Amino acid sequence: MIDQDRPAPTAVEAGDGAWPPELSRPAWTAENTVLRRVEPGDWEVILRLESSSPYQRAWERVTAPRSPDHCREWLKQEAARDPLDDNFFLAITDRRHGEMVGCVNTNQADPVAGRFYLGMAVAPEHQRKRYAWETGLLLFHYMFGERRYQKAQAYVHDFNQVSQAAMLAFGARLEGRLRRHDFIGGRYRDNLIFGLTSEEFYAGHGADGTS
Ligand SMILES: CC(C)(COP(=O)(O)OP(=O)(O)OC[C@H]1O[C@@H](n2cnc3c(N)ncnc32)[C@H](O)[C@@H]1OP(=O)(O)O)[C@@H](O)C(=O)NCCC(=O)NCCS
Repeated sequence: MIDQDRPAPTAVEAGDGAWPPELSRPAWTAENTVLRRVEPGDWEVILRLESSSPYQRAWERVTAPRSPDHCREWLKQEAARDPLDDNFFLAITDRRHGEMVGCVNTNQADPVAGRFYLGMAVAPEHQRKRYAWETGLLLFHYMFGERRYQKAQAYVHDFNQVSQAAMLAFGARLEGRLRRHDFIGGRYRDNLIFGLTSEEFYAGHGADGTS
């Protein structure tokens, strides 16, 4: 029998260690940002992003140019993924005009350990408008609050100070340095690992997803 007078358990008592998410909050829409699944028609935006060598170095590494056909085929596969797959690739779009301004992905999602990796990119002309910030909030609320993950991780190259600052701003901690992990621009580079637990995230950000 349900005891109506008994207060609802707090998140900690319930065992998930996380602030309960605000149930009226839309999962994929923030003040200026909407996240949606990528589509084959996004190929031009993706190829434009990839045509920037600094972007490629920051994201992973420089490659030979990708063809439109290859890009469309790749996006077709991403678009066809099951929505329950916790490894996903989403378009970051502007809420008012709907333009795609960047992209975000999760990968290596491990539901047993409850951790996943993320990566994000915003086109140079759209940077510093809080798209990455709002995207991070939406993503962390979804993965921690709806999918019961408990830790987000990101690899960031040693020279990518903007992404390091962004991870720290979300409340992540620097957890390690993989020495000589990549070869970029003529020399070996270290890779830094940042980690953000759900408790650290909820301690710094309210349940409404706007702070
Ligand atoms: C990292 C990146 C996604 C940030 O996108 P953005 O939309 O410009 O970021 P936001 O405007 O939402 O800023 C979020 C936070 O990131 C940090 N940040 C963003 N741009 C910064 C800059 N030029 N200098 C210092 N910090 C910066 C700040 O902490 C900022 O919070 P603040 O505005 O309160 O200071 C974008 O610079 C990018 O696409 N870089 C190239 C690709 C990349 O490095 N991806 C990550 C691979 S691990």
